Amino acid sequence: MPTLVSFDGRLLPPARARISVFDRGFLYGDSIYEVLRTYGGRPFELPAHLTRLGRSARLIGLRLPLRAAAFRRRIGAALHAARNRESYVRVIVTRGEGPIGLDPALAVRPHVLVIVRPLHAPPAEIYRRGVSVSVVDVRRNLRQAIDPAAKTGNYLNNVLALREARARGGYEALMLDARGRVAEGSTSNVFAVFGARVVTPPLDGILAGVTRGLVLALAGRLGLEARERPLRPEDLRRADELFLTSTLRELVPIVRVDGRRVGAGTPGPTTLRLLETFRRRASGASR
Ligand code: PDD
Repeated sequence: MPTLVSFDGRLLPPARARISVFDRGFLYGDSIYEVLRTYGGRPFELPAHLTRLGRSARLIGLRLPLRAAAFRRRIGAALHAARNRESYVRVIVTRGEGPIGLDPALAVRPHVLVIVRPLHAPPAEIYRRGVSVSVVDVRRNLRQAIDPAAKTGNYLNNVLALREARARGGYEALMLDARGRVAEGSTSNVFAVFGARVVTPPLDGILAGVTRGLVLALAGRLGLEARERPLRPEDLRRADELFLTSTLRELVPIVRVDGRRVGAGTPGPTTLRLLETFRRRASGASR
């Protein structure tokens, strides 16, 4: 069965995996989640994703009902039963259901869901030709509002950003923070390359992408200077290369920002070298 849902530990076909309309994840986006993928059938960077799930839980004051080992077992059981060659895995913890009302104390039992489905790799064309992005008007949430470091089910900020980008023909939205600095994409982190320097915004009002962390480490090992420092929209125009990172898309070259060419207007050599190194590392980790 290629798509399966583990619902509080019970494996169900998708049509039978139903959540209550009183669930706070549905009513308020009061939930947290992680998206991971397999390489060689094994979940990639699972400890990092579970650590981030724990951080998201702390940031919204949700007590996780399971320890990391139990999450690992549930994910393993769903992957085993689904028997896909490669899988997309989404782990969701909602605060649960209760009487309608904002007070989190109204829900007493979180639900844990693991959705496993066959992995659909992005089209090869986005790596060969690169993508266009739009710097959107929708700003990234303030840390003091909903901290972007928490991967919550409340994604309306990102949905609206992507909607705006798509209306302008962009593949992904680049969001600025309230100070006007480049924050991140709607479901990705962003990197700029200036000569041998690889720069990405610091962990201050963005999601700590697992791919981002790996790319920073790999860049250092390739002899590049990897730096976390603020990027302004003008820096995007000066960059030799730009790329996005995310679990599902790995590294995607950006060749246009709001219609303006980045560098030569083709995927840059440093981006492609990092992508190749990343893929080698990911498939090697599965062996
Ligand atoms: N999203 N920033 C945001 C806002 C994201 O939603 C994501 C990932 C990232 C990249 O993080 P990572 O490298 O750990 O995937 C950055 C996942 C893929 C999603 O929601 O589908």
